[in-house]
Amino acid sequence: MDDYSRRDFIRTSLPGFLGLTMALPAITAFATRANAFQGRVAEDAPIHWDAFLEAIAKEAARQHLDDWNEQSYVERAAAIALRLDLKSPELAQAFEDAKQGIGNKRVDFDKLEKQQDFEISFVQFEKGEQIRHHDHPGMTGVLLCATGTIDVWNYDELDEKAGEGSLLLKQTAKAELTKANVSTLTSKERNIHRLQARSLTQLVDIFAPPYNKERVQKSRWFDVDTEPYKGRDGCFEAKAS
Ligand SMILES: [Fe+2]
Repeated sequence: MDDYSRRDFIRTSLPGFLGLTMALPAITAFATRANAFQGRVAEDAPIHWDAFLEAIAKEAARQHLDDWNEQSYVERAAAIALRLDLKSPELAQAFEDAKQGIGNKRVDFDKLEKQQDFEISFVQFEKGEQIRHHDHPGMTGVLLCATGTIDVWNYDELDEKAGEGSLLLKQTAKAELTKANVSTLTSKERNIHRLQARSLTQLVDIFAPPYNKERVQKSRWFDVDTEPYKGRDGCFEAKAS
């Protein structure tokens, strides 16, 4: 996490940001949600922030069941994310706060929600800014592009090793996200990714389960070769830190 420890953020540093995500219990009482998701709005109608949280909470709660299927979850969560009304006041405030970060030459983070089973972050990139290769141990992720255009590369770690202290990553996805596009990852597939913005870009990221101390400690950054390993298409040698 050294890379991030040198950065400043809209509301907090990354260690502070991750620390908050570990420590806080549910910020908003589930029972107080107004406007239930199920049965009140049309299938494809936009949903406001509270209904969005309620719907994600319901899906993320299934991670405790024996039949939890991460891929099915990220597909459902992505569909919910695509219905989120980006004009919801809670999000409007995040967009407003993010203006402070424009021009600071670093990626900005803000924490929007933390519950037992998931957390939601707001991430802002300016043109050319990137987050280098990293993983999300034991977690799923759904990234909603709210504004801008950003390239996302996903990788799987292969069982095969490149050598002493070296890993092999297989690029499994490459997407150019624009407004109302999503990128997903599970604990087993596409879990490692890199992002680089083509223009000012703002993402709403949903992680389930949320970060805790163990997941933060297990998180890795990767130095990845630019050339394919032994000429193998989409295969790259990497060192983890
Ligand atoms: Fe990530």
